[in-house]
Amino acid sequence: MNLSVLYNINYGMYILGVSDKDKPTGCVVNSVIQITSENPIMAVSINKKNYSYEVLKHTSKFSISILSEETDPKLISRFGFYSGRDVEKFSGFPYELSDGVPIITEKSCGNLICQVLSIDEMETHAVVYARLIDTVVGPNKNPMSYSYYHKVLKGTTSKYAPTFQASVPEGQYVCDICGYVYEGDINQEDDSYRCPVCGATKDHFIKKVN
Ligand SMILES: Cc1cc2nc3c(=O)[nH]c(=O)nc-3n(C[C@H](O)[C@H](O)[C@H](O)COP(=O)(O)O)c2cc1C
Repeated sequence: MNLSVLYNINYGMYILGVSDKDKPTGCVVNSVIQITSENPIMAVSINKKNYSYEVLKHTSKFSISILSEETDPKLISRFGFYSGRDVEKFSGFPYELSDGVPIITEKSCGNLICQVLSIDEMETHAVVYARLIDTVVGPNKNPMSYSYYHKVLKGTTSKYAPTFQASVPEGQYVCDICGYVYEGDINQEDDSYRCPVCGATKDHFIKKVN
């Protein structure tokens, strides 16, 4: 089975936000879909190991912030490659609370507030079905697609995303934090070089060998 066909499925880029008691946290998700039109129901696929999932299961409420093409790549790095178990996700990134859950309003294309209806747990991921209970309109117009994130921002996907496929060719250097692939020999860069996606220093780049 050639899994590269799956690369042709289109997605968007979102931050799923939850409130862990009073602490706002969340993660990047690309797998959000609208299931019904009237009294809308949404669905999102979330990795069972994600801290955001742990919180979501207890609180039953979450937000989806629709990221625009102007989103700071550092926000995607923080929310997509670090866990709320280890870092304060929203530290340094402005947010507001809506219905008790954090939303990103700056440079976002809008926000959805969702109440969990049911959860189907599978091997690695759970599909969460939720009722749309409120919306917050955002200032930006161009939603970021998953393909824009890969092709224009040169971003990579976390191994916890449902769409992850390991694809680093042998001999290339890969950032051990975010998975960004460096084309060429990283040793030619000086020590001030930083990963363009997550800002990691040069020593985080590992040569891929099979
Ligand atoms: C481009 C991209 C897409 C992602 N899509 C998803 C997704 O759809 N579902 C998911 O559970 N995780 C997805 N992730 C991974 C989570 O954002 C990541 O595991 C995060 O560190 C979890 O943080 P948490 O432990 O604080 O919840 C994605 C990451 C990236 C970079």
